[in-house]
Amino acid sequence: MKRWMKGIAFTGALLMTTLATTHPTPQPGSTNKKPFGKTADGQQVDLYVLTNKSGAEAAITTFGGAVVSLKVPDRNGKLADVVLGYDSAEGYVADKSYFGALVGRYGNRIGHAQFTLDGKTYTLAKNNGENTLHGGIKGFNKAVWSAKTLSAKDGQSLELSYLSNDGDEGFPVDLKVTVTYTWTDANALKIDYSATTDKKTVVNLTNHSYFNLGGQGSGDILGHQLMIAADKFTPVDAGLIPTGELREVTNTPFDFRKPTAIGARIDQDDEQMKLGGGYDHNFVLRMPMDRGQSLAARVVDPASGRVLEVWTTEPGIQFYTGNFLDGETIGKGGVAYTKRSAFCLETQHFPDSPNKPKFPSTALSPGARYHTITTYKFSTPK
Ligand code: GLA
Repeated sequence: MKRWMKGIAFTGALLMTTLATTHPTPQPGSTNKKPFGKTADGQQVDLYVLTNKSGAEAAITTFGGAVVSLKVPDRNGKLADVVLGYDSAEGYVADKSYFGALVGRYGNRIGHAQFTLDGKTYTLAKNNGENTLHGGIKGFNKAVWSAKTLSAKDGQSLELSYLSNDGDEGFPVDLKVTVTYTWTDANALKIDYSATTDKKTVVNLTNHSYFNLGGQGSGDILGHQLMIAADKFTPVDAGLIPTGELREVTNTPFDFRKPTAIGARIDQDDEQMKLGGGYDHNFVLRMPMDRGQSLAARVVDPASGRVLEVWTTEPGIQFYTGNFLDGETIGKGGVAYTKRSAFCLETQHFPDSPNKPKFPSTALSPGARYHTITTYKFSTPK
C-alpha cells in the first residue's frame, strides 16, 4: 500500500474508533454514557443507556434522574419505546409534565402549600394553585443528579445521588437522596430510593414515567386493561387534595380489582372523575404483611401483547391518565403528546399526608433511613 493510502486508512480507522467511543452501538449487557445537552446555566447533562442481555434498553438522564426511554419487546420480539420523553436535556429543562422524572422532596400535592411538624409550620412554594405539587417550583425533577454505574448480578445499575438543601422550596433540613435504577436481564426496571436527614422532615419520592405499552406515539391508552390491587381510594376536592376519606371502590369507576379497560368508565358521570378530568387519584394498596414488594398494578395492552406489572413497598399509587396532555408538547421523534396518550402509575405515600394525621406518616427522623422499592416489570405472556 502506498504511504498516502496507508495514511488515509489510518485516519479512517481512527475516526471510526472515535465514533465508536462517543456513539457506541449498545452491546447486550452494557452501559454507555453519552452527552445529552446542557441546562440553562450551562451544566453538562448525560444520558446513560443500560442495555440488558437480551438487548432491551433503558435510558436514564442525570437531569431530574428521568427515565428517557424504555425499549421492550412485543409478543413478536419487536422493540418499541414505551415511555414518553424528550430527545435532549433541553426538553426536560422546559418540561412541565414530569416525563419520567424522579419526583421529590414530596411527590404529589401538599394542601395550601404548608404543613406543621413538631409544632413548627413550614410554608412551601406554591406551584399548583394554592398547593405544592411534586416538590414545588424547582423539585428534584429539575436538578442535575450525580451518577455512578454499579455492577449488578442480574443487569445494569445506575446510582444517582442528590443533596437537597435546607430551605429548598420551603422544606426543612438538608436531605441526602440516593436512587438506584437497575435494568434487569428479565426486562424489569427496579428503582431503589433512599434518603437520610439530620433533623426531622417529610419525604415522599416517586418516579413519574408515562407509559404507552403500544409504544409512544401509537395513540391513546384507553384500550389497555388495568388491574389495581386496591379496595379503596382517596377521593379529592377541587384542588385534587384528598378529603381524608378512604372510600370503597365498589360500584365506582375506581374498581380495578378485576382487569378493566382504562377507557371503559373514564367519561362516566361521576363527581370524582370530573374533578380529575379523568383518573388522577391515589389508590390505597392492600399492604402486605411482610415488608417486601407486592403487586400493586398490572396493565395489559391486548394489541402488542406487552404487559407491565408494578410492584412496590409503598402504601399508595397515583393512577393518572395524562388528562393534562393537550398535544402542544412535542416529544421524542417529533411526536405530539395528546390527551390520554399515556398513563402514570406513581407509587407513593398518600397525597397531603403531612396534613392528614390518619394517613401513613411521611415523616423521616434523624438516624432512620427512608427506603422504598418499586419495580416496573415488562413481559409478553402467551
Ligand atoms: C400527577 C398529578 C397530576 C398532574 C401530573 C403532572 O400525576 O396528580 O395532577 O399534575 O402529575 O402533570
